[in-house]
Amino acid sequence: MTAGPTAGTMDQLELGLGVPRLAIEPEWKAEPRLWGHSLHPMCSYLASFPAALSHAFIARYSRPGDVVLDPFSGRGTVPLQAAAEGRIGVGNDLNPFAHLLTAAKVEPPTAAQARTRATALRLAFGASAPSWRDLAAAIQADPTTGGPEPVPTEVALAFHPRTFAQLLFLRASLDLAAPTDRFLAAAIVGILHGKSPSYLSTLMPNTFSMAPRYVRDFAARTGFSSPERDAFDGLDAKLTRLYRDPLPRSGGLALLGDARDAGTRATAALTARRQPARARLVITSPPYLRVVKYGYYNWLRTWFLGFDSHAIDASLDDAHRRAPYLEFMRTVLRDLRPAMTEDGIAVLVIGDVATDRGRAVTDGHDLAERVWESAAAPEGFRLAGIADDDVHAHRKMTKLWGREAGRATQVDRILVLGATDAGRRRALSGARNPVDWTWPPRLRAL
Ligand SMILES: C[S@@+](CC[C@H](N)C(=O)[O-])C[C@H]1O[C@@H](n2cnc3c(N)ncnc32)[C@H](O)[C@@H]1O
Repeated sequence: MTAGPTAGTMDQLELGLGVPRLAIEPEWKAEPRLWGHSLHPMCSYLASFPAALSHAFIARYSRPGDVVLDPFSGRGTVPLQAAAEGRIGVGNDLNPFAHLLTAAKVEPPTAAQARTRATALRLAFGASAPSWRDLAAAIQADPTTGGPEPVPTEVALAFHPRTFAQLLFLRASLDLAAPTDRFLAAAIVGILHGKSPSYLSTLMPNTFSMAPRYVRDFAARTGFSSPERDAFDGLDAKLTRLYRDPLPRSGGLALLGDARDAGTRATAALTARRQPARARLVITSPPYLRVVKYGYYNWLRTWFLGFDSHAIDASLDDAHRRAPYLEFMRTVLRDLRPAMTEDGIAVLVIGDVATDRGRAVTDGHDLAERVWESAAAPEGFRLAGIADDDVHAHRKMTKLWGREAGRATQVDRILVLGATDAGRRRALSGARNPVDWTWPPRLRAL
């Protein structure tokens, strides 16, 4: 049977495995690394994607007022960018560190609230500085018994004694359940370690924490001592950078929990807030197969926040082989579909994995196609196609594994699905729409 051309066939070329290629050019790669709202670079996060990538889909596939959902929100790139473009940005993550970053971005305090609280903390520290300095000295002399609770040796040696005293005070004073304090905590973990003078410890790069044993050996071998950095001055400077852009006009929502029921929880939370209950667009990048350990590579930040890095790694779905990974993705998609509008679109950024820390991964190829076949199709999604993003993947993994880069993730594939055939058709026709890369965006009236 020959059928006339349907919407989108002109845009599609056949990829391997019978999966059509979606003709969306990765224009986001041409944009500056810091494209987008000034809250985006609050804190580095492994395997995060650029805000410009989320804009390419938010602009094409949603309108102001729509709900845009990311069930694996990481540092909150999608919900923040959605809110900055007048959408309702909803993020979910099972990692409490990711949830904190997402919540800080979608429910930020005003600049005045943040600065007032930061000043109050500075004054309160000033009034009790000698006792915090004594405590810092006792812990640095004996991390195991010097304070009320043991502190890992590699944490104690990371900071100048005066900086460490300020951080002990801030850690004890910030209430992570309060939005303003949560925002300040997220800003502080963003400047906790890095090589330039804006960071509080020079022990490690900003991107991730090196292995604790390596850090202890390095410090012993080199006689490392961190330069004195004032945490309150560093925080003030960070706030200036974060508030460079006006806050998004629309609010957002950050959920803490398993992506397996993120759709159900998002619908319930939106309904309770009397907002549109279903997402018109899902943009997400699910965890990779055995590539990233979010607790282990953030131990200094998790210490400051009072999170258990081992518990984080034990809870997350980043250690699967392919078959359980596909089963996991099927469960996630099953729950997401009813949480989407009839014409809803899901955009899944999925990396192929060739090696994991130098070891060959034999089941990491054609993951996007496999997710379509084994997880999305059986749950009733409709396939619009797959777009590629190879340069971006290379850059991302370079940050992670140095010379192993490029071999860790060969290419990111962007799987675009409709919740129904209406969603698939919208995905195909929207793929042709040009995107305005002006920042800040020219918002239409809401
Ligand atoms: C590739 S990262 C997403 C990064 C995000 N796109 C960004 O730009 O920051 C994958 C995320 O999945 C989260 N994750 C892993 N297993 C999960 C699960 N079962 N439920 C929800 N989130 C999970 C990890 O904590 C991580 O933040």
